[in-house]
Amino acid sequence: MRMTYDEIIKSLKEDPLEELLKRADKIRREYVGEEVHLRGIIEFSNYCVNNCLYCGLRRDNHRLKRYRMKPQEIINLARNLIKQGVKTIVLQSGDDLAYKRDDITEIVKAIKQEGEVAITLSLGERPFSDYETWRQAGADRYLMKHETVNPELYAQLHPGKTFEGRLRHIVFLKELGYEIGVGNIVGLPGQSFEDLAGDILFIKEIEADMAGIGPFIPQENTPLADKPSGSVELTLRVLALVRIVAKTPHLPATTALATLGGEDAQLKALRGGANVIMPNFTPEEFSRNYKIYDGKTKVTFSRAKELIKKAGRKIGQDIGGSLRCRTHP
Ligand code: 5AD
Repeated sequence: MRMTYDEIIKSLKEDPLEELLKRADKIRREYVGEEVHLRGIIEFSNYCVNNCLYCGLRRDNHRLKRYRMKPQEIINLARNLIKQGVKTIVLQSGDDLAYKRDDITEIVKAIKQEGEVAITLSLGERPFSDYETWRQAGADRYLMKHETVNPELYAQLHPGKTFEGRLRHIVFLKELGYEIGVGNIVGLPGQSFEDLAGDILFIKEIEADMAGIGPFIPQENTPLADKPSGSVELTLRVLALVRIVAKTPHLPATTALATLGGEDAQLKALRGGANVIMPNFTPEEFSRNYKIYDGKTKVTFSRAKELIKKAGRKIGQDIGGSLRCRTHP
């Protein structure tokens, strides 16, 4: 069944949550199966050249203690993850241009040599030639959230940036053959139901391989510190509708959801369309300063595995590649 823009808005506002989760769960079962994929995340630098109003890593946050892991530290940590059975490694940082193109290339090559593992880069916006080199070096996926499809809201929240520009990066990454991850923040100050319906349709239309959907969480020392959080329930509704509308993208039960709603919210996500968890492997001395938003929960490897068991599902056994080409069973 196809849903129109108006139907999505109505469903977001009115459908009982339980019913939405159930519908999403059914589609998840049909299109995605019982496996939940674990993506091990390494947050290797919290420096950022950007100044996004909501984010604790923003350039103007001078209260944040900044860190950079050395390439060899990142490689060693990745090797350790692979030994523990992690099949996807997500390398994430602020938009930190101190890591030159060749630095990242060397890291990607070294990790790929360690075994059968997929690499997802989440390094923000870089020169297009960087993406090309890293793809050739073996990077498989790129995570670049679209944050919101509302161009005015986008411009307001991301000084000096535009939604159109973001889209050009996402489209170029796709053309290079990366599996792409997009995703939006739910409950941004000034965001409407119409915007969220737009986000849901965007994820479908861009043919995203993955979409990360989390609630807005205010972070101290940012311009939005005093704004109210997004709602766990609305985030679950958006997540479920993405599964219902877009069918095949990998959808994580996000850390932001866990931060606001605890394990209960993550379990609901797994029962309402989600099929991915992203456990955090950043060493504690660094991760305590990766303060994107306040009180960020640390989803550990063991907690992630327990959650999958509790949800009555199976841990993904392979790299968990894109399911986008899979047609209806
Ligand atoms: N609340 C929720 N999500 C946030 N992000 C950054 N700051 C916040 C916040 N305050 C998300 C953005 C970004 C990802 C790394 O974290 O979507 O892309």
